Amino acid sequence: VVVLGLTAVGAWITVSVVRAPLNTLGAVAFDRELAIPDLAESRVEDGVRVFDLTMQEGRSDLGRGPDTPTWGINGAHLAPTLRAARGERVRVRVTNRLGEASTLHWHGMHVPARMDGGPHQMIDPGDTWTPDWRIDQPAASLWYHPHPHGQTARHVYRGLAGMFLIDDDAESALDLPRDYGIDDLPMIVQDRKFHGDGTLDASTSLFQSEGIIGDTVLVNGTPGPYVDVTTRTVRLRLLNGSNTRPYHFEFDDHREFAVIGTDGGLLPAPVSVRSLPLSPGERAEVVVAFRPGERVRLQSTPTPGGSRFAGGDDHLEIAEFRAAHHLGGVATVPDRLVAVPPIPEAAATVTRSFALGGTSINGKAMDMARIDEVITAGATEIWTVANSGDGVHNFHIHDVRFQVLDIDGGAPPPHLRGWKDTVWVPRDSTLRLIMRFGHHTDTEVPYMFHCHLLRHEDEGMMGQFLVVPPGSSTDAADYSAHTG
Ligand code: C2O
Ligand code: CU
Repeated sequence: VVVLGLTAVGAWITVSVVRAPLNTLGAVAFDRELAIPDLAESRVEDGVRVFDLTMQEGRSDLGRGPDTPTWGINGAHLAPTLRAARGERVRVRVTNRLGEASTLHWHGMHVPARMDGGPHQMIDPGDTWTPDWRIDQPAASLWYHPHPHGQTARHVYRGLAGMFLIDDDAESALDLPRDYGIDDLPMIVQDRKFHGDGTLDASTSLFQSEGIIGDTVLVNGTPGPYVDVTTRTVRLRLLNGSNTRPYHFEFDDHREFAVIGTDGGLLPAPVSVRSLPLSPGERAEVVVAFRPGERVRLQSTPTPGGSRFAGGDDHLEIAEFRAAHHLGGVATVPDRLVAVPPIPEAAATVTRSFALGGTSINGKAMDMARIDEVITAGATEIWTVANSGDGVHNFHIHDVRFQVLDIDGGAPPPHLRGWKDTVWVPRDSTLRLIMRFGHHTDTEVPYMFHCHLLRHEDEGMMGQFLVVPPGSSTDAADYSAHTG
């Protein structure tokens, strides 16, 4: 291992010249029960649901002894699950007890820009940041993680990530598994690697411009977890919380399972699949049926017909499900879920293009003082996102949920026909996304759009947009001086 020193990300990257062999990751014991993040405690004050979160340092057992230094929220590693209902007002008091500044971003949340927790809402050590907003979007499995510019990869890799579940009446009217931790399981899937002394290894190979690829998969921080299944169906809220690695989830017996939701909410109807890709930042809700007494493993398999990229396309064993001999609970998934009215293409008044290449977007690297796009509140827009082919990327937009209109001119696969906030952009491909912006306006504080491969984001594959009141200028040059 040679320390080559600095990249834009800082001194923490050690560049390794030895790369792990591909597609040969070690056997997994499945000897630890899957940890389930606690539901965060909250209290209602003057009609507002209040959560207290503290970012802190600690030590955790990630399978290499009890003393791996980690970061967590209200604990040593990861974070409690926040949960609130559509229509509720929430306030989160976020205290930073780390030794350095960070932020906390509500990924997938429609929220005023000043409450978004992006790179402009830094929380200094010892400070408390207290955003509040009204939950105004459908039931979904969102998540939250730090977003300090240039440092997001390191802060997430250390363990700062949690889920934020939104409930609503349309979802609760459906006969779906929803007993948290019993038949409704958050699954935060993250790959990690370790030095011999058990500390987290954040190095990247010389050949790995995409970022950190680990050799150990943790689910909710548990290496090689098993799940004792007591119900006929189990809902998994899958989150790819990894820095870099895309997964291609399937079961070892290739069984069908039902995709019921995407990043931003439930699908109109379940989609039956045998495998499901998820890139970093994406979520899916799936329902899996089990037979009494069986054991089945969740895996990630190499892409059929070719690799996504070297080192990011291994066969991985993720979790083992062990069904009891008598199973209760919900037996089947409803045929119809919720309405997801397609946004009509004709409603779009603006089209914008985003070319992902190198570590920039449209040839520009992220600049916190530059506004890239200005959007009129309430507008429907089509964003064309192209991967120029020199790397692997996905694309995430803050504040809005979008629908995928097409991928290289063709209809998206059925499991992508729901609300999304992050989407894989294959090499040499062009996606068209359609979205309707909301009414949280701010002429100074922007939202972000970026590649969610965190090293790319940190190195500058990110841009900033304002949502401004109707009638305001939409010329970015009019605003860029105001931010900093
Ligand atoms: Cu999950 Cu801008 O991030
Ligand atoms: Cu990228």
